[in-house]
Amino acid sequence: MKLKSTICSIFAAVSVISLPLCSYAQKWDQLAKTPPMGWSSWNKFARNITEKDIKSIADAMVSSGLAECGYVYVNIDDCWHGERDANGNIQCDPDKFPGGMKALADYIHGKGLKFGLYSDAGCKTCAGEPGSLGHEYQDAKTYADWGIDYLKYDWCNTPDQNTKASYRLMRDALYAAGRPIVFSICEWGSTKPWEWAGEIGHMWRTTGDIGCNFDCYKNYGDWGEMGVLQIVDKNEPLRHFAGPGHWNDPDMLEVGNGMAENEDRAHFTLWCMMAAPLILGNDIRDMSDATKAILTNKDVIAIDQDPLGIQGWRFYTSDGVEYWYKPLVDNEWALCVFNRTPDSKEVELDWHELITYDNISKRSFNPERNLHSFKNLWTGKEEGLTDKNRKVKIPGYDVALYRFKPVKKSN
Ligand code: GLA
Repeated sequence: MKLKSTICSIFAAVSVISLPLCSYAQKWDQLAKTPPMGWSSWNKFARNITEKDIKSIADAMVSSGLAECGYVYVNIDDCWHGERDANGNIQCDPDKFPGGMKALADYIHGKGLKFGLYSDAGCKTCAGEPGSLGHEYQDAKTYADWGIDYLKYDWCNTPDQNTKASYRLMRDALYAAGRPIVFSICEWGSTKPWEWAGEIGHMWRTTGDIGCNFDCYKNYGDWGEMGVLQIVDKNEPLRHFAGPGHWNDPDMLEVGNGMAENEDRAHFTLWCMMAAPLILGNDIRDMSDATKAILTNKDVIAIDQDPLGIQGWRFYTSDGVEYWYKPLVDNEWALCVFNRTPDSKEVELDWHELITYDNISKRSFNPERNLHSFKNLWTGKEEGLTDKNRKVKIPGYDVALYRFKPVKKSN
C-alpha cells in the first residue's frame, strides 16, 4: 500500500494531464450520487433496435418532458454489435447503425443527454453477440472514444469466471480509458454483488430479469421473468448496502408496457421508495397520458432522487396492506401505503401505529408527538396536519404516497 501511494504521488507530481493517475483499483466516483435515470432499449425493443429508433427516442426524451424530469441516459442494450475488426476492435452492426456509434453519441449529446451501451463479461452476450472477455481494455477505450457515458455489463457465457475479478477488470479498464462512465453490474444477484460491488460499480442488479407482469414468475425453461412483486421482495431487504454512488438495481421499469395503470403506479412508486435507478423500458415516443403522468410526476421522482440516498423499507404489513418508509433530507419522510391485494381497502392512518425509527439515518419519525404537514404526491393535494388520524381508500394493487414535513414550532 505504501509503495502504491508513493508511486501515485510521484505520478501526481510529474503529470501535467488531468486524466486519472494510478488507473487501477478505482471506479469513477461522483457519477451516481443519486440513482441514475434514463431509458434502455431492452424491455420494449429487445434485439430489434436501430440508429433511427435511438435518435427518435432521444428526440422524444426531450420533447415529452422526460429529460427535464431528470431522465438523461439513452441506453442501447444487447444487439447493437457487429464483428470485431482484424485488430480486435469491436464495431457496431453497420446495417442497424450505419452512421456509427460516435456520430450517434454526438447526436445524443447534442440534445443534452447521455449515451449508454451494453456488453458482457463473457465471450458472448446473452443474445450471442461478441462479449468483452479478453478485450476489456480495448473495448473500454473504444467506448470512451465513441463518447459513451454508461456501460451495462452482463454475465452470460462466463462459465469459469469469477464475478468480482471480472467486474473489477472492466472497472479498471473504464477508469484507465479516462472517460467518466457509469458502470452498471448485471449478474442478477447471483454472487451477492451488494456485498462486494460498492467499490466496483455504481449499481448492481439484485434479481433476475423483470417481465411485464405484476405478481407472477414466468418460467421459460432455462430462464424466467420475475414480476414486480417478486423483485420487490428480493430487493427490499438489501437496503443497508445501497447509498450514494452504489445502488441496488431491481431492473429496468415496465411502466407503460401493458400492466394496468394502478399496477404501473405501484411499480413506479415502489422503485422510488427503494431508491432504485429509474431506467424506463417503454416506447417513450408513444406514451398514453396515464403513463406519462406516472413517469413525469416530479414529486414522486424527488422521493427516488432524494440526496440522502437512503433506500426505504417495508415497515409493517396489516391485512395485505404494506406501509413503507423512506427518510428524506430536512427531516422529511415519505410514506407509501401499498395495497397488495386485488380488493379495494379502506385503511386508517393511525399516527400512533406509524411511529418508526430508521437504523441507517438513526432518525425517528413520530407524527403523533411532533406535528407534521403531509401531501399526497399522486393527487398533488396537501392533506393538512397529523393532528388527527385519517381514513384512506386504496384500490387493489395501488398505492398512496405521502411526503411529511415537520411543522416548525412558533415561539
Ligand atoms: C440479460 C439481462 C437483461 C438484458 C438481456 C440482453 O438477460 O439481464 O437485462 O440485458 O440479457 O440479452
